[in-house]
Amino acid sequence: MSTFGRSMLEHWLLDPECTYLNHATVGAPPRRVLQKQQALRDEMERQPSRFLLRELNGHQPMPWRTASRLREASDQVATFVGSSPEDLVFVPNVTTGLNAVLGSLPLGPGDEVMITDLAYGAITLAAGAVCTRSGATLRTVHLEYPIRDAGDVVEPIVQALTPRTKLVVIDHITALTALVLPVKAIATECRARAVPVLVDGAHAPGSRPLNIPSLGVDWYAANLHKWAHAPRSCGILWAAPERQSLLHAPVVSWGHDSGFRDEFEHTATADPTSCLAAPEGIALLREWDFDACVQYMHGLAWEAAGMLTERWRTTLEIPREMVGAMVTVPLPQDAGTTDADAERLRLALLLDDHIEVQLHAWRGRLWTRVSAQIYNDGQDLARLADAVARRS
Ligand SMILES: Cc1ncc(COP(=O)(O)O)c(C=O)c1O
Repeated sequence: MSTFGRSMLEHWLLDPECTYLNHATVGAPPRRVLQKQQALRDEMERQPSRFLLRELNGHQPMPWRTASRLREASDQVATFVGSSPEDLVFVPNVTTGLNAVLGSLPLGPGDEVMITDLAYGAITLAAGAVCTRSGATLRTVHLEYPIRDAGDVVEPIVQALTPRTKLVVIDHITALTALVLPVKAIATECRARAVPVLVDGAHAPGSRPLNIPSLGVDWYAANLHKWAHAPRSCGILWAAPERQSLLHAPVVSWGHDSGFRDEFEHTATADPTSCLAAPEGIALLREWDFDACVQYMHGLAWEAAGMLTERWRTTLEIPREMVGAMVTVPLPQDAGTTDADAERLRLALLLDDHIEVQLHAWRGRLWTRVSAQIYNDGQDLARLADAVARRS
């Protein structure tokens, strides 16, 4: 088993002078994954036509291979997230995957799409845009904070469902608040009312054990370029078999209308090496003992919650089971309340203390979201605690 903490930094290109507590915002691929990607690029550039026209998606004959490069890679990713190979495709990022589903829905005037006010801003915009185009209504459910248990999330969503609800969009792990939401319980309630569920799983693969089909949802999009150690840009889109025939890629290209996998694999020209290198990130997670990684990251996130709130005399008001590999902690009230206060403090932490961390204003105070990757440890948390305390 590996010893986690600062010594793991040797596996990354990250500047050791910087305390990087921001893996959730901009993930950092390990050196070995980047080397794999470079090797793939070198191979591609030796015979670009052969690589891209024949081997990548198997569109033209390639008698020397039994499976296309994309399928070889996506099959390995599918296994990692508990999916059948046929139900999962690569997308450049979670935003693209979610847009594909949103844009494929047959929405019309009178229909409602439901999202929560903890959703990632760009995804709320995407849901709003399809509603505007189709004449449907975007309904944003307010979720209270503090949260005592999963019921505090499930109940308001169930209460807001109406016969007009045609889709519920829910985060597996919320962006700024870093809450692991009870997706399975929400999906059970929605399924009982025949309402399909689309999950934004941006932060899930690689940060916690994940078996997508067992959640009982209809579509699940996620990033591998955050916690699963894939190079940017690499995401996945999973669709339940009965949802695949109506699902289309957001950019129409050669694969159009040729079936779920073909449509998403036979797209316009792009550099595919981030997706082809994704299995290397998964291999690393396994070598480092994935369960141990998850346990370490969660333990450190929970330690951050306790240590930072004690030091800053604030209170974290969420249950431990809703914390994963990152945690969002309230700052002292006198640290400020506005976006401008947040930006000033975040910049000062970066420039003066070399700490990179998410910091934002939300519901009348400042919060910081601490990512606990296996290269972080208690000393990183102590540096953050001191730097904020000195300024508050
Ligand atoms: C919950 C959530 N959804 C979506 C995204 C967008 O990710 P990307 O820009 O990789 O598509 C993020 C980014 O941090 C996120 O936190």
